[in-house]
Amino acid sequence: MKFIQSEDGSFTMFSERFGEHYHSTKDGALSESLYKHIIPALSLTTKNHIQILDISFGLGFNSLTTLYSLWNSKKSVEIHSPEIDEELVKSLRDFPYPKIFEPLESVILEIAETGKYESERFKIYVYFKDGREFLKEWRGSNFDIVFQDAFSPKSSPEFWTVEYFKEIKRVIACNGILTTYSSATPIRMALFENGFHIYTYEHQKVRSGTIASLNRLEELEEIDMERKRVVSTNWKPLRDEDIAIQVEL
Ligand SMILES: C[S@@+](CC[C@H](N)C(=O)[O-])C[C@H]1O[C@@H](n2cnc3c(N)ncnc32)[C@H](O)[C@@H]1O
Repeated sequence: MKFIQSEDGSFTMFSERFGEHYHSTKDGALSESLYKHIIPALSLTTKNHIQILDISFGLGFNSLTTLYSLWNSKKSVEIHSPEIDEELVKSLRDFPYPKIFEPLESVILEIAETGKYESERFKIYVYFKDGREFLKEWRGSNFDIVFQDAFSPKSSPEFWTVEYFKEIKRVIACNGILTTYSSATPIRMALFENGFHIYTYEHQKVRSGTIASLNRLEELEEIDMERKRVVSTNWKPLRDEDIAIQVEL
């Protein structure tokens, strides 16, 4: 395994199979997770028991940073995360995680060994299967938070299409929060076409990302996507038919 130090000092990796880093080396693996996903999602969620969909587990930063952030609270969380690469997850016992994850050592070891972790307040389940298959089969309760953190549309287009977000709409709670590092108009349009309200989330430590919700969020200023459709030249969202994949929905 080749570990790569990102700009905030935390380590990530490069996937030869997908030709991409697991995190932005510029924003930093930990910063990207904290400031683009965990902080915005948790700050917009008032529930005491939180059900999360983490697309996809990868090096586990989003799931682990969630536990780290809620460690000393009274909240409980259940995270469900599809991941196609079982060998990667098994190898995480040796990954050089940030020092702040030290209290999570037993969580990391258990996930690497069994693909799951269960304590009274925290549960993580990794499903070693295709993410879209997972979504299609999901019959559990709706998710309060979705971390949309797949590789980019170039290498993982099936996680950014209108039809993919239609599946997300089926499994997210109506007041659920979706976070993603992408701020690209075609991605926002794919969400918008499915009825999501779209917001930019900004934090000085990272480049801006997107928040989406089926309900209006009073705390943030909504982007006028109808207007974007008129004035923007590059807004066409991806569709399954464009990428020629066969996904039975
Ligand atoms: C950008 S990384 C996720 C980073 C992760 N969220 C983290 O915080 O470390 C994308 C992950 O998607 C996984 N992946 C790619 N194609 C997939 C598929 N069809 N189904 C499930 N997982 C997939 C890759 O193996 C990779 O681990």
